[in-house]
Formats: sequence, C-alpha cells, structure tokens
Amino acid sequence: MTDLSIEYLGMNLNGPIVVASTPLSESIDNIRRMEDAGASAVVLTSLFEEQLALESRALDEDLSRGTNSFAESLDFLPELSDYRMTHEGYLEHIRCAREAVQIPIMASLNGATSGGWVRLAKEMEQAGANAIELNTFALATDRAQTSAAIELQLLELISSVCSAVKVPVAVKLSQSFTSLPHLCSRLEDAGARGVVLFNRFYQPDFDIETLEVRPTLHFSTPSELLPRLHWAAILYGHFKGHIAITGGVHSAEDVLKAVMAGGTVAMMVSALHIHGIGHIARVLADLRYWLNKHEYASLAETRGCLSRRSVPDTSPYDRGNYIKTLSSYSLRQTLTAF
Ligand SMILES: Cc1cc2nc3c(=O)[nH]c(=O)nc-3n(C[C@H](O)[C@H](O)[C@H](O)COP(=O)(O)O)c2cc1C
Repeated sequence: MTDLSIEYLGMNLNGPIVVASTPLSESIDNIRRMEDAGASAVVLTSLFEEQLALESRALDEDLSRGTNSFAESLDFLPELSDYRMTHEGYLEHIRCAREAVQIPIMASLNGATSGGWVRLAKEMEQAGANAIELNTFALATDRAQTSAAIELQLLELISSVCSAVKVPVAVKLSQSFTSLPHLCSRLEDAGARGVVLFNRFYQPDFDIETLEVRPTLHFSTPSELLPRLHWAAILYGHFKGHIAITGGVHSAEDVLKAVMAGGTVAMMVSALHIHGIGHIARVLADLRYWLNKHEYASLAETRGCLSRRSVPDTSPYDRGNYIKTLSSYSLRQTLTAF
C-alpha cells in the first residue's frame, strides 16, 4: 500500500488531508466522521479574541447594570450572539474532540493583541489541543500604518504565543504580504513551526439598489489554488518549517499539486461543504491510485518536485513568466482577430 504518512508540525499524520477551520467541526459527530473518512487532523473553527472582550463586557454589564459605563470602543464589534461558541464552550469542545478521536486536534485562534492571544493559546493547550493555528487576519485601514509596523506587530504576537506554549504553532497568513520569504524567515525565528497559505479574504459586495455593503462568503473553486502553489513553490527550501495549503483544494490532483509545490499537508473545507465529509475518502482513494499508477512508493517522494528550487527552469515562478504569459496572450488574440 502506498505510504501517505507525513510529519506536520512535529506530529505524525497518517495522510496529507487535514480539515481546515470550518463550522463543520463544531459537531463531535462530524469530527468522528472526518477521522473515519481519512482526515489526518482537524483544525477547529476559530475562537476570536474579541469574544473575550465581549464576554467580559457582558459580565461587567451584569455587575454594574444601569451605570452606563461600558467601553464604547467595543461597539463596533459583532454582538456576542454572533459568535457560535463561547470561550468556555470552545475549551470544552477541544476536550470532547480530543476524547472522541485519535487524530490530532488543532485549535484555531483569531486575534490581534498579544495579551488575548497568549492567554487563549495557553488555555487551548491545557484543554488538550495538539497544535495551535493562529489566524492573523488584520486589515490596514489607516494611512499612517506602515507595512513594516504591521509585520512587526504580527511577529511580536507570534513570538509571545510561541514562547508561552509548548505545542507547535502554525501561522495562517494573508496573501497580501509584499515579501513573503522574508516574513516567513522571521516567523521561523519567532518560533512558528509552520505557515498556512492562505487565509481567504472575504470582501464585502455592494448592493447598488439599496446602497448597502454586504458581507459575502462563497465556497472556493480549484482556481484559488494557483497563488498558493506559486508561493509554496517559492518558499519550499527557504522556509525550514512546514507549509500547509488551504484554498482551492478539491481533488486528488489538487492534493498532489500542493505536495509537489512543497506543501506538507493540503487542507480542505469548501469541498466538504459541497460534497460532504465522505469526499475525503474518495480523494484519498484517487490519490493512492495515481501514486500507484506512477510507481511512487510514498507521497513523500513527490514533495517539492515542482518547487522553484527543483525545476530546471525557474522562469515560470519569476517575473519572466509574467511578461511571457501576457505577450503570448496578446499574440493569440491578434491571430484570432484576423
Ligand atoms: C463556512 C466557513 C467558515 C470558516 N471559518 C473559518 C474560521 O473560523 N477560521 C479560519 O481560520 N478559517 C475559516 N474558514 C476558512 C477555511 O478554513 C479555509 O481556509 C478556506 O475556506 C479555504 O479553503 P477551501 O478552499 O478548502 O474552502 C472558513 C471557511 C468557510 C467556508
């Protein structure tokens, strides 16, 4: 049988398919089904640091009802009821998930200040999380904020979490960093054991009739995989930690591409929402079939074979490809026009 096992963040996993953070894993029954279908680990839905602030505000409100003394700075946040799980409920969910399955359970933390992150990360570790994924979604909306300052703040946050917990920490990154190789090398110095490429950016849409700005959430398509492959292929060999790919992984071919680019694991969410949790088993069967057919004894043999450092011609990954792609397109267009 082809060997699909891999090591991710120091954990021995029985395969490359990890379930990325999704509300599907809020049900213990679903987590069991994910394990049965062949998922090698599960990242729980994120706990938002802002929840802590809201929960303590709710407590303050209870304690000093009528004094009208609550921080206005919290007013822009969603209501407490908008979050699906309370902070205590989240920790209990980690404990239950740990008891229910053998595969590693990774907690996911989405926050912005070092105080909140360190406290929550420690609690997640104590509750039994095997690893922690830090979701670093932050948006620059102030013209005085420099990219260097944002990166520095991020590095300080990661460093404070990594030194506070013993379990491995991976950082789920946004795609919009200018020099990803440099940032990743600094994340490595800060203690991160892996990077997760990439957070999906949920841009709001406009309703031009009601003049409203509305949140949107669409499931991914495999075309979203391409920027992830590109960056994984560039980072592979430069970043010593592990690379996880999330975004556009739907089939065995996508998993293979993710690994060939240099990814250790391929994470899935949209495909499971679309086809059901059992889809993992089908993808693994297709993956085994392909590896057998091409006479690979293990998936590990394919890792990084299409990374920037492995291919003889690196131009597809560099600026040359941009020029070549654009000029070949205009040539084709011109030929068709005549
Ligand atoms: C309904 C839904 C909820 C999600 N919730 C979270 C979350 O709480 N934290 C997080 O880091 N990512 C969250 N994600 C992003 C996924 O973990 C994943 O990175 C993204 O969907 C890309 O993978 P995909 O193409 O397989 O869907 C969510 C995605 C979906 C579709």
